Amino acid sequence: MISLVVHGGAWDIPDELVDAHKAGVHQALKIGWSVLTKGGTAVDAVEKAIMVLEDNETFDAGTGSFINMAGEVELDASIMNGRTFRAGAIAAVQNVKNPITLARKIMEESEHILLVGMGATRFAREHGVKTCSQDDLITNRELERWREIQSRKSFSTKDAFRRKKVPIDTVGAVAMDYQGNIASGTSTGGTPNKYPGRVGDSPLIGCGTYSDNEIGGVSTTGWGEAMIKVVMAKTVIDLMDRNGGDPEKAAQDGLKVLIRKAEGYGGVIALNNEGKIGIAHNTPRMARAWMTSEMRTPLVAI
Ligand code: GLY
Repeated sequence: MISLVVHGGAWDIPDELVDAHKAGVHQALKIGWSVLTKGGTAVDAVEKAIMVLEDNETFDAGTGSFINMAGEVELDASIMNGRTFRAGAIAAVQNVKNPITLARKIMEESEHILLVGMGATRFAREHGVKTCSQDDLITNRELERWREIQSRKSFSTKDAFRRKKVPIDTVGAVAMDYQGNIASGTSTGGTPNKYPGRVGDSPLIGCGTYSDNEIGGVSTTGWGEAMIKVVMAKTVIDLMDRNGGDPEKAAQDGLKVLIRKAEGYGGVIALNNEGKIGIAHNTPRMARAWMTSEMRTPLVAI
């Protein structure tokens, strides 16, 4: 059994953006799937699928990310290997083209888990991870959004999230390879107009990402401040452990915890230790694509 599920955000995705979101998650799934079918590892598949989403300007990750209050892009990402229990993450990092690749480097070539800011960029340069200018990451769409927000008297991310109108286009992937190993990863530009240095759930192991070969893997998308409060990814893993390994029910129950305890919105992708996939969201739409070796063709939904 091999299995892969990817997401490209959960929010009230407008009709005119539906096709781009579907095409983006489909493409990411195809690339990750080809890694798995060729015998690649779950970690390889997760990294490659997320790189595709980071390079796609549709999503709030890598190129096309939200711009912070200071007019800069600061990126968060994490990856976890459910076999080794090793993890790597970066937060509030600038000038890195593919944050998921840097997170993987930290997992595999350092004794640390989370590097932030300038230290993370320095690690990228020292380890041959592609760096870039701020301009390479900033798109016209996001520049316009940023200018529009600056022109307002006030802007509350919390209120916007409650109205489900913030484009929560964080991306993620969870995979199981032929060896039965599980990995998961998440990448984001965070929230629009965030305070410089703000860190969301995505790079926090247990909040945005978690993998344990004995149970399953999870990646989340949504309002980070709420996700952190309920340690979302690990909560879903624990629910799956207790419910006999049902990833769909665990994802749904995790969202019930999120809304009840933290008034949070978002989505979850999960798979269990048999490669069975579960997806849930409490937003009007969630971009996702998935495939297992038991399916003939991939499924793409929004
Ligand atoms: N879930 C993405 C963020 O809040 O940063």
